[in-house]
Amino acid sequence: MKILVTGGAGYIGTHTCIQLLNGGYKIVVIDNFSNSNPEALRRVEQITEKKIKLYRTDLLDQEALIKVFEENSIEAVIHFAGLKAVGESVTKPLKYYQNNIAGTLVLLEVMETFEVEKLVFSSSATVYGNQQCVPLNESLPLQATNPYGRTKLMIEQIMEDVYQSNKNWSIALLRYFNPVGAHESGLIGEDPSGLPNNLVPYITQVAVGKLAKLSVFGNDYPTYDGTGIRDYIHVMDLADGHIKALEKVLSTRGVEAYNLGTGRGFSVLEMVQAFEEEIGKPIPYEIKARRPGDIAVSYADPSKAETELNWRAERGLAEMCRDSWNWQKLNPNGYEKTTEKQVTS
Ligand code: NAD
Ligand code: UD1
Repeated sequence: MKILVTGGAGYIGTHTCIQLLNGGYKIVVIDNFSNSNPEALRRVEQITEKKIKLYRTDLLDQEALIKVFEENSIEAVIHFAGLKAVGESVTKPLKYYQNNIAGTLVLLEVMETFEVEKLVFSSSATVYGNQQCVPLNESLPLQATNPYGRTKLMIEQIMEDVYQSNKNWSIALLRYFNPVGAHESGLIGEDPSGLPNNLVPYITQVAVGKLAKLSVFGNDYPTYDGTGIRDYIHVMDLADGHIKALEKVLSTRGVEAYNLGTGRGFSVLEMVQAFEEEIGKPIPYEIKARRPGDIAVSYADPSKAETELNWRAERGLAEMCRDSWNWQKLNPNGYEKTTEKQVTS
């Protein structure tokens, strides 16, 4: 029996593939490489010394997906495939609804046809929208403030409806907070195309000299230093959370949402300082206006995942900075332009 990983070549997917392979699972990956590079999976094989069965296909291609299910005995699916840039989702909403929602509908239909009813889904803390009360727990009312967030919210609702229609389903909706860091080897990590949208890749690209300075989006939030507070979580902890969620869906039925966060928030300036300590040099920055759509504070109440999945984030901020920086400095241009020598040394 195999685990199908959609979007397995991406940032979180590759790290989860490592933990799946290390845990003895056999995996099949499908990816269209719209936001990733096949080299990432080659490195997963290098790290784990195990083979991955890969289908270069689009989730929207129902015939191709049926073939994947025909050719493999799939026991459960971890569904990462999706587009994730908030800003782009505002300018190209149809692209996001088509890819994320239609892609998920195709997947669910094919799963139902083959009676594969075990699913772990990549949701996001974005489904909490702009809440006043932190820490954020899973029973808060949900809201989304942009098309990307609405795709996550709608998919959660679709999955709930699917379960109500057929109680054989078992689905874990994993609401990630802010994934950062990389595998400790420095061989795989986050490889944003173009200018990074997110704080940590921006900081590391400034540190490596690719970008001149960081813009800190607002220092007038009602927080202790005026900058936004987020719950940064090491991507390897997140990967471990998927293994726990997979174990859960394989042994139960139902649909449950789980926060995957540390429960601790750090401000933008605290993150800058932590990276300065790791890297040993200043990160130039300037204060700019708030980024539209940003919220002041977001951090998880992770107690449900701890109680029901027996999972808790173990890695602290120092490891997040160390591993993000290790990946960036070993791969200044991401996967694309790394030489074979760097890969194998
Ligand atoms: P990523 O872009 O690195 O990985 C997504 C992968 O899915 C990519 O390899 C991409 O090529 C693939 N893909 C996209 N559409 C596809 C399609 N139609 N068919 C086949 N493959 C397709 O992103 P990530 O950071 O690894 O995120 C994984 C999931 O987690 C996404 O659904 C994302 O929305 C969600 N998420 C990410 C974050 C984050 O900060 N990284 C936070 C919350 C939720
Ligand atoms: C963003 C997305 C969110 C997604 C999450 C994880 C937006 C509006 N939200 O959230 O939907 O789930 O990423 O991928 O894009 N910051 C700077 N300078 C920068 C970049 C960020 O000061 O160059 C600040 C932000 O204002 C925020 C913090 O750093 O306070 C974290 O930002 P980011 O990494 O983009 O994550 P989120 O805003 O939490």
